[in-house]
Amino acid sequence: MQEVLKQIGEEGINELVSAFYRRVKSDNILGPLYPKNDWEGAEQRLADFLVYRCGGSDKYIQERGHPRLRMRHIQFTIGEKERDRWISLMSEALLERKIENPAADLLFGFFIQTADFMRNVEG
Ligand code: HEM
Repeated sequence: MQEVLKQIGEEGINELVSAFYRRVKSDNILGPLYPKNDWEGAEQRLADFLVYRCGGSDKYIQERGHPRLRMRHIQFTIGEKERDRWISLMSEALLERKIENPAADLLFGFFIQTADFMRNVEG
């Protein structure tokens, strides 16, 4: 994942996350799950997490502690429908930002795996 940071930098990650959240906001499945009054905060948390996960700044850990992502997602109902929509909006964001390989493949593989791990209901 360090390749990702080398290729697109923190700025590239921030822009990817912005492109993703622009879609989430108006999405009929995912939109309602997110806090309406803290879009900026949500965007910041995902971006900081990804930078950290790619071997960059540990700002995420300093502000939020250990990620424990599955636990933090238990409060949201996540089934196949939510997982697939998350992945599809993130794929659109990767295309919009024209992220090339290897970063695109590395990020996509990580997203697929992590999104599936977040599922907490059947179907
Ligand atoms: C599978 C479908 C997913 C759904 C429906 C979902 C939904 C959410 C929601 C509603 C939040 C709260 C927003 C906030 O206030 O921070 C959140 C937070 C977060 N999500 Fe997801 N998420 C999904 C997958 C993922 C994946 C694949 C990743 C990582 C690649 C991820 C990383 C995060 C992070 C880092 C936070 C902030 C955690 C914190 O520090 O509180 N999520 N997610």
